[in-house]
Amino acid sequence: MNDPFFTLHADMPREGPGDRESLDWAMGVANLPRDAEILDAGCGPGADIEGLLAHAPHGHVTAVDLHPDFIGQVRARWGDDPRVTAEVADMRAPEGPFDLVWSAGALYFLGITEGLGHFRSRLAPGGAVAFSELVWLGEDRPAAAVALLAQEYPPMGDLATLQARIEASGYALCGVRVLSDAAWEAYYAPLEARIARLRPGGDAALARVLDEAETEAALWRAHRAAFGYALAVVRPK
Ligand SMILES: C[S@@+](CC[C@H](N)C(=O)[O-])C[C@H]1O[C@@H](n2cnc3c(N)ncnc32)[C@H](O)[C@@H]1O
Repeated sequence: MNDPFFTLHADMPREGPGDRESLDWAMGVANLPRDAEILDAGCGPGADIEGLLAHAPHGHVTAVDLHPDFIGQVRARWGDDPRVTAEVADMRAPEGPFDLVWSAGALYFLGITEGLGHFRSRLAPGGAVAFSELVWLGEDRPAAAVALLAQEYPPMGDLATLQARIEASGYALCGVRVLSDAAWEAYYAPLEARIARLRPGGDAALARVLDEAETEAALWRAHRAAFGYALAVVRPK
């Protein structure tokens, strides 16, 4: 039987908010060598690999994710390119050293403190970690957003909390910005189009998955001023 999650998510361009414009900004802050070794930690379908290689054209990306379907998608796109290695693996497995650990919407699975603590020993001298993380953008915290996000991301704080966590983990913040609406649309627009296509005739298990994704997208559309994704570039102190 098909997993309803992958009925919805198979072959999506990306699995969380992000876009080339924000990646380019982060790469400008990270200032990588052109032959950089990069870890794409929790790469999903590999949406960011092209952008990462544009900044390190003679480098190499190790792309890891726990889901074989996503790694299959990465291999289908990059399998012939020696600059990319894709593995079904825990993001903590690759040993490096890496000039950059890139983790778009995935570091929270380890926790910021635990994740940054782990990657410190995987960084080359001068190496950086770039990651995106959900944050509150102000004091207005709508109940619907608190209910859903606090359930999924219990340690969610604001930008000041994020900076404090980064520094408490022994890193310095080199730059941080909040992802644009375009970066969210890059994730939600294709997902919403797929939901509309799958909705007629879906069974109960699929309907539950579609409902959850639709609720999450609607929450962002209704309350996008209250929360966002911060993209941070950090280096060990
Ligand atoms: C929100 S998605 C983001 C995917 C991708 N970075 C993107 O922006 O499209 C988070 C990804 O992290 C992966 N993931 C979660 N925990 C992981 C772990 N411990 N090791 C490797 N991948 C993990 C999930 O399978 C999922 O594909």
